[in-house]
Amino acid sequence: MAETTTGRTVFITGAAGGIGRVAVERFVSEGDAVVLADLSLEAVQKVADEIAERYPDAKMLSLAVDQSSEESLREARKAIEDWSGSLDVIALVGGTVQAVGASVLELTTEEWDRVHNTNLRGVFLASRELVPLLPKDSGASVIAVASYWGRSGHAFYSSYCTSKAGVISFVQCLAGELAESGIRVNAVAPGNINTGMHQAALASEAVERGISFEEMRDIEWAKIPLKVAGPPKSIADAIYFLSSDNASYMTGATVDVNGGVIFV
Ligand SMILES: NC(=O)c1ccc[n+]([C@@H]2O[C@H](COP(=O)([O-])OP(=O)(O)OC[C@H]3O[C@@H](n4cnc5c(N)ncnc54)[C@H](O)[C@@H]3O)[C@@H](O)[C@H]2O)c1
Repeated sequence: MAETTTGRTVFITGAAGGIGRVAVERFVSEGDAVVLADLSLEAVQKVADEIAERYPDAKMLSLAVDQSSEESLREARKAIEDWSGSLDVIALVGGTVQAVGASVLELTTEEWDRVHNTNLRGVFLASRELVPLLPKDSGASVIAVASYWGRSGHAFYSSYCTSKAGVISFVQCLAGELAESGIRVNAVAPGNINTGMHQAALASEAVERGISFEEMRDIEWAKIPLKVAGPPKSIADAIYFLSSDNASYMTGATVDVNGGVIFV
């Protein structure tokens, strides 16, 4: 197998988010070219501009991509074909949480579908549309971001938990299909990571309980064996590792990076 850990072309969804932007910088810092994809072109371009200040020679392409839309992903594929012709790494970081906790008896079909469309259908569609850009037998790989909430169910969050459990299963299915082509497929299951998504979840739970954000944060962080929400870099490092030759014998795996919040 060819050595592939520098000078690669990497596609990252959720690139304007807390974990995604750190993942972009991780790959750029290693000399890889990166396609930054997220819902807002303005938001990803801002991330690219910030990273370019630290890495003036970085090769980056900003794209508005909705990973829940076939049409949007097909447009992205055309843009990538024009820009680089192929990809070496597909990192599907984009995701969304349920707007509010709701029991199965109260959860609307629209909210179930909205979460699943991005988190699970989006991982399926992005894989179907973009895996053809990965060369065979050259160390290429797909990495999807699941969640520790996909490792076990949580009351009132059935849509989010099942979408992420689906991602863990999906990477096993795709890994089995692509093994013959020498393309690896893995997932990372983060625990609580200190991004906007985590802070928004703490803030809404604090409002529901009538306590301050700080009190809510202390309650939640006290439940984590390592006593703190993880830095986004911990997930970016795991994504990078899975894409690298150091993980060349790993496929179909989900790597738990969660401060010990669940032991699988
Ligand atoms: N932060 C955590 O505690 C945590 C824990 C477990 C799993 N995760 C997962 O990690 C991933 C990144 O989360 P984050 O903390 O950076 O959240 P974030 O909200 O900061 O970033 C998520 C990004 O995904 C983008 N996105 C949403 N829907 C999209 C779509 N349809 N197409 C393309 N992009 C879309 C958003 O615009 C946003 O930029 C998500 O999949 C999330 O479910 C996060």
